[in-house]
Amino acid sequence: MRFKDEVVVITGSGRGIGKSVALKLAENGAKVVINDVDEAVTSEVVKEIQLVGGKAVAAIGSIANPDDANRLIETALSQFGTIHTLINNAAVTRTAMIDKMTDEQWDLVVDVGLKGAFNCIRAVAPIFKERAKANPEAFSNGRIINVTSTAGMTGTIGQINYGAAKAGVIGLTMSTAREWGRYRIQSNAVAFGVVETRMTETIRTEKFAETYLNKIVLNRFASPEDVVPGILFLASPDANYITGHVLNISGGYHIGV
Ligand SMILES: NC(=O)c1ccc[n+]([C@@H]2O[C@H](COP(=O)([O-])OP(=O)(O)OC[C@H]3O[C@@H](n4cnc5c(N)ncnc54)[C@H](O)[C@@H]3O)[C@@H](O)[C@H]2O)c1
Repeated sequence: MRFKDEVVVITGSGRGIGKSVALKLAENGAKVVINDVDEAVTSEVVKEIQLVGGKAVAAIGSIANPDDANRLIETALSQFGTIHTLINNAAVTRTAMIDKMTDEQWDLVVDVGLKGAFNCIRAVAPIFKERAKANPEAFSNGRIINVTSTAGMTGTIGQINYGAAKAGVIGLTMSTAREWGRYRIQSNAVAFGVVETRMTETIRTEKFAETYLNKIVLNRFASPEDVVPGILFLASPDANYITGHVLNISGGYHIGV
């Protein structure tokens, strides 16, 4: 129960990696806020956690919309009284080559993946800063964990919007770390390579799988369970002296082969 009574907000946790993180945190005693645009899967995750005695609440809405992001943070406050950790996990992809990419594809991916994370960080600011005012010497007054990708460091073909958003997430992580270090608020990121979720269904097909596997030093795709421990580490007191860090959990994809 190493997260007993910790309140954690996880965006995009109706399925995929966010869901796996939420289940593991709840299993370890955390009170989790499940956010997603997809109402059906969100309710399922909440039910799954509650069925085994865990504490979870749903906050449906798009983090790309500042009002929804504010509502998400308010839900955590009204249901659980505070927030200790915000995990900015939600993102989408819309694939197209540069000359074929539409404004809509660019805007959606950047609005969800980059601005969405900013919306949530801004919304959580008063809570974390209030805690810092009351506990200036505490080791941690709040944690931000942003999910980025090797795509934000090395680029990808056909996803300039996603690569740019994920690179932006790294800048966002570093700026938050600098601005909020004085409040003892940690801001870190995790970068994944290829994880077996809905997002990577196309690249894990027979046609592309080999090409991607050849770029992964450990020569296998990650399961969501492979990447969860790194996030839990950054959400734990073990990471109290870590801020402004990008933890690559990519099987070595980021160094290439
Ligand atoms: N799967 C991978 O290989 C991989 C690699 C690198 C990084 N990532 C990152 O990991 C994170 C999780 O990805 P995943 O693979 O679990 O994807 P996924 O598609 O399985 O899950 C993402 C969830 O986010 C939700 N979502 C989409 N738009 C939203 C919005 N506006 N507001 C709230 N929720 C929204 C979706 O409904 C979905 O449930 C993302 O940030 C992704 O970019 C994934």
